[in-house]
Amino acid sequence: MASPRFLFLLLLSYVFVFGSVFNPSSSARVLSSGAAKVSLALYYETLCPFSANFIVKYLPKVYDEDLIKIVDLKLVPYGNAKLQGEDNIACQHGPFECLLNTVEACAIDVWPDLNTHFAFIYCVEHLVKEGKYPEWESCFDRLKLDSKPISECFNSGHGKELELYYANVTGSLQPPHKYVPWVVVDNQPLYEDYENFVTYVCKAYKGNPEPKACSTSLLHQVISVEKAKPTREVCYAEETIKTSASYSS
Ligand SMILES: *[C@@H]1O[C@H](CO)[C@@H](O)[C@H](O)[C@H]1NC(C)=O
Repeated sequence: MASPRFLFLLLLSYVFVFGSVFNPSSSARVLSSGAAKVSLALYYETLCPFSANFIVKYLPKVYDEDLIKIVDLKLVPYGNAKLQGEDNIACQHGPFECLLNTVEACAIDVWPDLNTHFAFIYCVEHLVKEGKYPEWESCFDRLKLDSKPISECFNSGHGKELELYYANVTGSLQPPHKYVPWVVVDNQPLYEDYENFVTYVCKAYKGNPEPKACSTSLLHQVISVEKAKPTREVCYAEETIKTSASYSS
């Protein structure tokens, strides 16, 4: 059963897909006010429950509150995977995680439009949260997306190349990531305050008018709710890999 939130997001994603067809300037990085977009990057791995929770419960705020116009969002599905030798990747939660990391990397590559790949990744991570990730392929039907380019990406080895690229991007982080989800706003990691990313995006944004989501009363609410609980909800980079199985093409 799709949750109301999921349907809402789905609906929104159609609005955005059509919006971008009819508005040729919608993908420009610089807004009419001249202010640069704030870069927001999520380094994550598909089966870390805290990554899934962040993607499903927090990240959609970029849509809910119309922040998307000021944000350049990048998703990097690799996380705490480790390169063994030249091109063998071992994932923290085993081979299924390597499969889903690669599938999500393929989704980003095949559907460069954020609204499309985000809808797909949201769908898969929603299943992860519910412990139903073996049903990930149902997301093609649910979202009316063609599975063929994804299987081609995966089976041709292109997905593996994308993962090796993400291994490099993740490995080049300064400072290096310590856990996932690892959220970076304008090159500054948010550490354990990642759920509060809206505040940091608003602080980093130089343009006018500021989005409604950045109004102080709203932000105070966000801060008081999210600071109230201790966040240690992360998958550490050095945690033991649960299965010894690795993954190669
Ligand atoms: C990433 O790739 C560049 C260029 O091939 C290389 O110089 C660099 O060492 C790589 N970084 C990591 C962390 O793998």
